[in-house]
Amino acid sequence: MVVDVKTSKGGYKVIIENNILSRLQEEVKEISGTGKMFVVTDSNVAGIYGKKIKEALNCDCYVLPYGEHTKSHKYLMELYDQFLKAGLTRDDTVVAFGGGVIGDLTGFACATYLRGIKYVGVPTTLLSQVDSSVGGKVAVNLPHGKNLVGNFYPPSKVIIDPEVLSTLPKRVFSDGMAEVIKYGAIKEKDLFMSLFEDNIDIGKVIKKCVEIKRDIVENDEFDTGERMILNFGHTYGHAVECYYNYDKYTHGEGVATGMLYITEISERMGITKEGTCQLIKKLCEKYNLYFPEATVPEKEAKEIIKKDKKATTDGINYIVLEELGKAIIKKEIL
Ligand SMILES: NC(=O)c1ccc[n+]([C@@H]2O[C@H](COP(=O)([O-])OP(=O)(O)OC[C@H]3O[C@@H](n4cnc5c(N)ncnc54)[C@H](O)[C@@H]3O)[C@@H](O)[C@H]2O)c1
Ligand SMILES: [Zn+2]
Repeated sequence: MVVDVKTSKGGYKVIIENNILSRLQEEVKEISGTGKMFVVTDSNVAGIYGKKIKEALNCDCYVLPYGEHTKSHKYLMELYDQFLKAGLTRDDTVVAFGGGVIGDLTGFACATYLRGIKYVGVPTTLLSQVDSSVGGKVAVNLPHGKNLVGNFYPPSKVIIDPEVLSTLPKRVFSDGMAEVIKYGAIKEKDLFMSLFEDNIDIGKVIKKCVEIKRDIVENDEFDTGERMILNFGHTYGHAVECYYNYDKYTHGEGVATGMLYITEISERMGITKEGTCQLIKKLCEKYNLYFPEATVPEKEAKEIIKKDKKATTDGINYIVLEELGKAIIKKEIL
């Protein structure tokens, strides 16, 4: 399955296929041509897929520590060093093989090294497959906050093998499911309802999510309008993540809590069709994303939300549902 993504710089293909990793070399070669390849991954992923990557690509592979703290200035400098040591030029191609941390950091390194070299994304978590794979956002964190230094720099290709999800810890899989539920809730009721089935075809679900994000991002490449609806559940979700110091709840757990929180309010206000909140709750329960105890005191929540980078000078935009599959932007409803 292939999804074409258009960008102002051209475009790229997202290829979704079981066992596509067995053809990794061929797929990357299409971009790298006669240039060199260089792989960046993290220690967890290297432990499971390192041998496979080496056999397939037979090139330099740099392994970073796993975890969010790797998306930092320190490891960015380390990557530039490694790129230089490997003698990478603008004819060469970097492969970002890992979750969103590796994707964001490697993408940012590639956006800036020699004013931009090519990279291919091989996202290996559900979250990175359905979210970071489209939209071209690359970034590193600062001690002051997440993603404070970044750019829009699309990959040359994205290769998704749904089979790699079989090695994900259960909680990391659920984390990604929160974004999947979000896509259904904001844009496609059929996708949302299909998630209640017992044996979902995860490849098809990933493709649908990639298409939904593609359609939204193509209309708003630089995140100034419609793309905002992708933040459904994220405003209160960030408050939950932040209030609990980013170590109690995952991003997806925060987002799931945020979707429920805002929908409960908007339903009470008569903006959202009755029963919507109950359906979201059921789906969150099914995917281990229901945390009724994850609350933030009102004063603290308001303070965190005000500092959120998504708050603009003319107030905070909240994304609410009119019904499943139909999201709208509302100002200051809390
Ligand atoms: N660029 C974007 O548009 C975008 C969108 C959403 C999120 N993000 C960023 O993505 C990051 C989060 O991404 P993430 O959730 O993928 O986190 P992550 O990269 O830290 O991966 C989560 C964990 O799973 C492990 N892992 C990855 N693939 C695996 C596999 N196949 N099998 C076993 N273990 C595996 C990793 O080593 C890590 O421990 C955040 O920094 C966030 O800001 C970016
Ligand atoms: Zn998110």
